Amino acid sequence: MAATNPERGGAGRDEWRVVEARFETSAPTLAAAPPADRPELAVAGRSNVGKSSLLNALCRRQGLARTSAAPGRTQLLNFFAWTLQGPGADAKGSAKLEVRCADLPGYGYAAVPTAVRDSFAPMIERYLLERASLRALLLLVDVRRGVDDRDVQLVEFLGDRPIDVLVVGTKGDKLSTGERGLWARQTAEALGVERSRVHLSSAKSGEGLFGRGGLLPALVARLRTEPR
Ligand code: GTP
Ligand code: MG
Repeated sequence: MAATNPERGGAGRDEWRVVEARFETSAPTLAAAPPADRPELAVAGRSNVGKSSLLNALCRRQGLARTSAAPGRTQLLNFFAWTLQGPGADAKGSAKLEVRCADLPGYGYAAVPTAVRDSFAPMIERYLLERASLRALLLLVDVRRGVDDRDVQLVEFLGDRPIDVLVVGTKGDKLSTGERGLWARQTAEALGVERSRVHLSSAKSGEGLFGRGGLLPALVARLRTEPR
């Protein structure tokens, strides 16, 4: 694929990019997850917030994670293996990073039968508490809907766990330029996280994903460090 212009949302050759991405498995429980043998990131947020779309946009593979206009589509822990390649890989040997991502079921989708919905929370809690390789959690918030109680509870739930939380505003293409700075400040405040942990993105335009200050380089920095 030709190098794209980072200003327009593509990943250039001097940036980290996902060079390989494959779906591994859908796991109904943590026991059925792939081995915890590489740094892992998880994507959480309410139903329909754009979790699957964001994963697809980050690895530029439409349709790898299934997206849907009907919320509640993802009801299992879906695992993907990614190979990332960093800048300087050609000059000074390989700057490659093998990671895994978990697309978590969205919370708060009322039309899912209660029995199914109630099985989500323990599954996600267990995953967040016990997954040894989990380093970073992307907590997605739809810019038009704002933070809800479950987002706050999730940040609180993680507490002292050695997991870096990055808050990602999704569907950023729906905000005007003037609304963006305010959105980030208000979101950081509502969730009690530092402003530097809040990113605005759009899976549709690629905004906020790859370039300097983008989500992918921030994520790579966290996944490359030793566990705390
Ligand atoms: P569940 O797995 O059902 O919880 O949903 P999800 O969080 O994985 O959301 P998904 O990626 O399936 O996207 C939900 C809807 O939002 C779809 O109709 C997407 O097309 C739309 N969407 C996702 N990202 C964006 C974005 O950046 N901009 C716009 N405008 N729409 C988006
Ligand atoms: Mg999904």
